[in-house]
Amino acid sequence: MTKIYYFSGTGNTLWSARRLAELLPSQACEIFNIAAEMGRTSVTIEADAVIVLFPAYAYQTPSMVRRFLLRAEIRAPYIAALATFGSDPGGALAEASRILKRKKTPLSFAGGIPCVENYITIFGVPSRETKEKRLAMQRRATENMARMIGERKIKRVGLTFRPFSALISSLFRAAKRLFVKGYKVTNRCNGCTLCARICPAGAVTIIENKPVFSTACEHCQACLNWCPMRAIRYIRITPDSERYHHPDVKAADMLIRNL
Ligand SMILES: Cc1cc2nc3c(=O)[nH]c(=O)nc-3n(C[C@H](O)[C@H](O)[C@H](O)COP(=O)(O)O)c2cc1C
Repeated sequence: MTKIYYFSGTGNTLWSARRLAELLPSQACEIFNIAAEMGRTSVTIEADAVIVLFPAYAYQTPSMVRRFLLRAEIRAPYIAALATFGSDPGGALAEASRILKRKKTPLSFAGGIPCVENYITIFGVPSRETKEKRLAMQRRATENMARMIGERKIKRVGLTFRPFSALISSLFRAAKRLFVKGYKVTNRCNGCTLCARICPAGAVTIIENKPVFSTACEHCQACLNWCPMRAIRYIRITPDSERYHHPDVKAADMLIRNL
């Protein structure tokens, strides 16, 4: 049994997790959402192989993934970590590797998967050409990883400690609590509650039919990008701005909770 754990805001990482499961035909694969697993009091994982996938956030792992790696007790002879990223994953894989190594469950495999950059509040939505190019890169990289993981290759890429990445990440993690103040709801909101049901951090509460954002926010951009009314705005992202999510992933695939 291969167990695949993922964290995803806009579907890139979920797409790669699903593709890996399709491409590892000789092994039964089960896919788990890290956000749902974090609701459990303890996480013990026994499997022949464990694959953890997450997006790079400010050159490191998302805070929830870091907490998951610290908490999970993994009993598997083969552990892989894959980081999806928009331009440079920085020290994201190194951080995951360091945590697991300290717990005496070192990585057998580490690699990055280039994807469409989803940090639209900073970089804007990429052009159609760029998206197509990056989607093709993601497909190829995911298929390569599946082949190597299927063959149980030992390969660790991107594990060098990068002090600059660690600095940027500490600043990001500290500032995240302030970033949440930037999310505003416009009168386009129809109270559908999708933002609250899709938020992996459980940071969105519905009060009087409108979302209210808490500091538990991971800044994953899910609420902003999946809102069917484009009713959530964030500084440069207005109701008229384009949004992004992986084209082969649907909002229904991303739901975390019922309301
Ligand atoms: C808050 C935030 C920080 C990010 N930081 C980085 C980064 O440091 N390096 C990078 O290459 N991409 C970065 N990205 C882009 C994502 O890692 C990339 O688009 C990823 O595939 C998104 O995965 P998802 O669709 O599963 O959420 C960042 C995205 C967000 C939302």
